[in-house]
Amino acid sequence: MSLHHEHHKHHEHSTHAHHAHGGHGSVVHAPSAAVAADYQRAYAQAEPEPGGTVVRVDLEAREVDWEFTPGRLTRVWAYDGQVPGPLIEARVGDVLEVRLTNGLPEPTTLHWHGLRLPAAMDGTDMVQRPIEPGQAFTYRFKLMDAGTFWYHSHSNETVQVERGLYGAIVVRAADEPVFDRERVLVISDVMLDESGQFTTFDGREQRGGREGNVRLLNGTSEPELVIWGGQVERWRIINAASSRYVRLSVGGRPFRIVGTGGGVIEGLTIVRDVLLAPGERVEIVVGPFEPGEIIEVVSEPYDRGMGEHGTELFATVRVGPAAPSQCGPFEWTRQIAPLVRWSASPTQEIVFSEQIGADGDVRFLINGERHYRASPVTVGEPQVWDIINTSSVDHPFHLHGFFFQVVDRDGILPAYLSWEDTVNVPAGGRVRVAWVADDRPGEWMYHCHILEHHASGMMAHFAVVRPSAQSSDM
Ligand code: C2O
Ligand code: CU
Repeated sequence: MSLHHEHHKHHEHSTHAHHAHGGHGSVVHAPSAAVAADYQRAYAQAEPEPGGTVVRVDLEAREVDWEFTPGRLTRVWAYDGQVPGPLIEARVGDVLEVRLTNGLPEPTTLHWHGLRLPAAMDGTDMVQRPIEPGQAFTYRFKLMDAGTFWYHSHSNETVQVERGLYGAIVVRAADEPVFDRERVLVISDVMLDESGQFTTFDGREQRGGREGNVRLLNGTSEPELVIWGGQVERWRIINAASSRYVRLSVGGRPFRIVGTGGGVIEGLTIVRDVLLAPGERVEIVVGPFEPGEIIEVVSEPYDRGMGEHGTELFATVRVGPAAPSQCGPFEWTRQIAPLVRWSASPTQEIVFSEQIGADGDVRFLINGERHYRASPVTVGEPQVWDIINTSSVDHPFHLHGFFFQVVDRDGILPAYLSWEDTVNVPAGGRVRVAWVADDRPGEWMYHCHILEHHASGMMAHFAVVRPSAQSSDM
């Protein structure tokens, strides 16, 4: 597998024309010659577990008119004409086969955020050629884990994701507790002008990323949700916004966190709010409420280095008449063994820093570089990564294809053990994570999930490699 490349292809809409790379050489965003074979093999090897099935989904990305607010049409880019795209539901052990047809005026790819899949199916421009307008591409892989995941464009993301190219994935385990109702709530935002159309992106929005002026829940501005009195619901919440942080509160009521990005967490955790950085998911259990109550689902103020917003409304819950509940007390945690001891020393350091360019723009760097080439990770070797943020704003760190555990944040142990693919690294803070690559060699990446930061190069590429004795069968 070739790791060295000579050219650097720029993302559209990035504001930098030229930039220097450090000692690692520049990284081209293009697949190596081996990808076709890797793709064929991954496709052929994706077979459901006994009792599982192949879930087939046909998606078309195309331009369509959508009503974010009643009576006002916005030209969006959507999967199958909906924002968010269709909800994909399956069970652990199923194979998901998605054929994406590109009806957009520009190339696209589809990334499966949080899913453990073969590198060839990851939907980045390191592992596939972009799908040109009019063409189709089929992703096929087995679903390994239960949880709430999402899919989104991984090409020209600052434009494509904001315009609507994202959707939710729910993967269920064989035995999960029953709730009176389950909802998937996808949070996002859009920046619209007076006529309801997207404003053009200018690089000025880069320091904090682009925050919209219309907040969305499931593609609608401030929707109303109706819950029956006395019922208990499971909410799967996804932050799909380009850069907006959401410190979610359900009318200030206590709620239980049952899961995060990598599924069910360990331990009983009851909170009054939870911070969701872009890319993160959380599963909570809400209710029961009294008939007639009105509860606001809001984001409480949070300063990510950009000053505080006021409280922001996302949805209003109206509690209807009482209805019977089938949801008794439930025991639902899972044992998660710590991957490393809290005192383990880091095997890699990842430094997020900022730099003011000659043009006055702020740039965010990883280990002093844009498009950093990190050292390879060997299958089975424990990784302990210190992610150090010396910059003045928070950055959500997202690792493709693998889950990690948070070991500590500035020396403080996490409130609960969980598996994650995205974690917020506060301005001036440090988060230590641990993970082990299972046997899925190939080209992977991590990046800041503020899409404008990612697009401007706040990302790193690395290879997962088999121990050298086995490398011949790669
Ligand atoms: Cu949701 Cu490369 O990310
Ligand atoms: Cu960032």
